Amino acid sequence: RFEQARFIPPDAIFALTAQYLKDSFPQKVNLGQGAYRDADGKPWLLPSVNKARQTLLEQGLNHEYLPILGLSTFRQAAAELLLGPELFAQRENKIATCQSLSGTGALHLAGLLLKACQNRLPKVYIPEPTWSNHHQVFDSLGFPCESFKYYDHERKDMDIDSYYSMLKQAEPNSVVILHACAHNPTGLDPSKEQWREIAHLMKARNLFPLFDAAYLGFNSGNLDEDAFAIRLFIREMEMEAGVCVSFAKNMGLYGERIGCFLLANNSKQTAVHTQSMLEMLQRSEVSNPPAFGAKIASLILGRDDLRQMWYADMFTMSDRLRWMRKALYDNLVSLGAPGSWEHLIRQSGMFGFLGLPPDIVLELRETYHVYMADNSRISIAGLNEGNVEYVARSITQCLLR
Ligand code: LMR
Repeated sequence: RFEQARFIPPDAIFALTAQYLKDSFPQKVNLGQGAYRDADGKPWLLPSVNKARQTLLEQGLNHEYLPILGLSTFRQAAAELLLGPELFAQRENKIATCQSLSGTGALHLAGLLLKACQNRLPKVYIPEPTWSNHHQVFDSLGFPCESFKYYDHERKDMDIDSYYSMLKQAEPNSVVILHACAHNPTGLDPSKEQWREIAHLMKARNLFPLFDAAYLGFNSGNLDEDAFAIRLFIREMEMEAGVCVSFAKNMGLYGERIGCFLLANNSKQTAVHTQSMLEMLQRSEVSNPPAFGAKIASLILGRDDLRQMWYADMFTMSDRLRWMRKALYDNLVSLGAPGSWEHLIRQSGMFGFLGLPPDIVLELRETYHVYMADNSRISIAGLNEGNVEYVARSITQCLLR
């Protein structure tokens, strides 16, 4: 029965974490998976999350099922957060939402819904490079996926002209995956003007914007700023749009798998219908979503004091990332690492895209115990005052050899 099964190599980024954990070298550095670490290199329990957890425990936590669509207070608060109170009030009844297994689950639900609503599967345009799971999610559902050039490796910068020309030629009615902010892995986002142009080109060809919003709050520490592109498409352009939100990173709730899929529809009726379809699709996939993360997120988003604490927590994280990015840059420059490192400080968010060749990445891993993704993406969060110089020195030594 299963003789046809192929061997699939382990997921590269999870395999890298496993390799790092097995390494017994005391000065090892993990710049692999995108997970926030504090100044001591430890996972950070956000004070807002800690407070919400305590409150839940005091209130008495049970382990009952959530509704199929998820916790309604969470869904509503997540939608309001994404759109901002004004736009939310205007559009509330044209929105469908469904709690999801973090961002990946939201992307998957979006794919299932698109599949269930179209006679012919639309093309999915995916930036190159992108988060490693985008292709898998849409390939596994049978969508024809096509990469488009997002980054110019020579200039180490965004290739906005290639982006525009792809949009001008894209097959009408296709889906385009958009990183809402803090593009993974390049750390480079379109400017506001460029977002406007992207939105106009997409509207002209009736392309469906599907946002992956996994790093809201990580660019600027300010969620409203980071939600700019999402609101532009929905408010100014009045387009149908899907948003796949994850609270893994910005609430540090990685393992709780808490996210939401939001669909901004054109009409009330479509919103009712798409929401009912999401309910059916969710039921057949996971029956109903996990409760704990939803209860924490709902409390934080719904209570002013906790929300203010969370805003401060996001600022703490994004601010430390900014400092560490600068510290790495300063160390590389002062140690005389060959080449220019300006690209590193042009980027923002969780990641730095160093532009190192694969042999250097391997040497850094094997000789210096500095772990980064094969494409030389680093999670800036893995840097701290205690290791940043070591990392810069290791890179410099590899490049000078
Ligand atoms: C990453 O890109 O490192 C993270 O989003 C973790 C993951 O699931 O790949």
